[in-house]
Amino acid sequence: MGRSNKLEKARAYEKKKAAKIGAADRPAFHLTPYVGWMNDPNGFSLYKGQYHLFYQYYPYGTNWGPMHWGHAVSHDLLHWEYLPCAMTGDKEYDRNGVFSGSAIELPDGKQLLMYTGVREDKIKGKKKTRIRQTQCVAVGDGVDYKKYGSNPVITGSQLPEGASLEDFRDPKIVRADDGTYLCYVGSRPADGSGQILVYQSRDGFEWKFRNVLIENKNRVGLMWECPDVFSLDGKTVLFTSPQDIRADQLEGLTGNCGIAVVGTVDPDTGKLCEEWIQPMDYGIDFYAHQSVKTADGRRIMIGWMQNWDACGERNPKQKWFGQMTLPREISIRNGRILQQPARELLACRKHPLKVADLPVNGCVRLPGVSGRVVDLDMTIRPDESDVFTAFELRFAENEDGSRYCSLTYDRKKGTLSISRLHSGTCRALLHERTCRVGCADSLHLRVILDRFSAEIFVNDGEQTMTMVHYSDPKADGISFRADGTARLGLEKYDLAL
Ligand code: FRU
Repeated sequence: MGRSNKLEKARAYEKKKAAKIGAADRPAFHLTPYVGWMNDPNGFSLYKGQYHLFYQYYPYGTNWGPMHWGHAVSHDLLHWEYLPCAMTGDKEYDRNGVFSGSAIELPDGKQLLMYTGVREDKIKGKKKTRIRQTQCVAVGDGVDYKKYGSNPVITGSQLPEGASLEDFRDPKIVRADDGTYLCYVGSRPADGSGQILVYQSRDGFEWKFRNVLIENKNRVGLMWECPDVFSLDGKTVLFTSPQDIRADQLEGLTGNCGIAVVGTVDPDTGKLCEEWIQPMDYGIDFYAHQSVKTADGRRIMIGWMQNWDACGERNPKQKWFGQMTLPREISIRNGRILQQPARELLACRKHPLKVADLPVNGCVRLPGVSGRVVDLDMTIRPDESDVFTAFELRFAENEDGSRYCSLTYDRKKGTLSISRLHSGTCRALLHERTCRVGCADSLHLRVILDRFSAEIFVNDGEQTMTMVHYSDPKADGISFRADGTARLGLEKYDLAL
């Protein structure tokens, strides 16, 4: 297919270096980069019976660098096989990187990738450079892709007035009911915040601006990145990832957060009439989420299991950095998007251990309850005679109990806190987050642990809390603690993949 030297070099490099990474040095079922750095999921799609997941990728180091697209495929969303690097910035218009985007199958059976090409030029006599982001496409067979000869297909000349030429990225292509294509792109309007633009095309190659889907108007952070738009349970959902959120804007969360804006689209104006906004995660590490529709009609979401501001939390010996979340099934109930681990995970549950109504007072460790790759289902209730205030789950706990991660339920405050403060980290950055879960009689938690992460699904997925940690892989203890008596219903499974 006439692959560029730059791409051939990346492919040879990743193959050689990845061979040196042992399976046990990676998570058991969360996708990591083939080698080097990974950020956003890209092009999450079904193509010829397989799930394809591309990702923002810099093979040559474990920090962000000129972006490539990494590539992996899976039959069940859990076992991933690496494919060679799909794209690199090897054209004039994308020479500083191939940024985030999406993928779709064309009527002729080819796969179309749509991405942001970044080009940065020096300005004579000035320190500042001139950055241009444009939308580009490439066509391929699921392994090799050829960039379209008339790229870029959407440029600054197709922006509404006042929109930034620099912050214009992350095209999400979808097929409309009439067979034409729509593309949603993140943009920064003149007010300095964010907006999502809609483009339209007959064939996926020739695009024209249609309308503004929604404006942020400085309500939730500034620039809105990584849009995804789809129908779910009678509503239209926009996923987007705002930057620079302040504490008064989104339930106390700050920084970069993945959100959902839910409503309906006005057929006349094409505008999203918003009904509610919700954060898609209340933990530390979640961003840039994308979705796919499965053959059996489920909507599955995956996010980058990382937070830009917390990238300093890492194991410097690891030859990879960045993980994807578990694929999560989403649905709407009572005005809220709920999340559940993809049901494919149930087939990986091994060695069931079930305990009903176990009194926990002080510290409890149970025989057979330990491990780093584990699925825990917990229901916590107060004991009427001796009510507890705080219930704590510790995991990734070392032998002498001095190092651990934790999840703490404060029944009086109605809060749940996740923490890696005692995991052995020596960095001073965000290590704890707390969310309101309410003071109902019982709390239900599904806790999915992989070697270097924890994903918590609260009350059937009404909220989730996600966190990575780089504690000693041998620290596999699990314990329960309460400062009065808590009644614990527990199911524990090892996850074997
Ligand atoms: C989001 C993001 C995208 C961009 C990519 C660059 O995390 O900033 O907007 O395309 O990362 O790697």
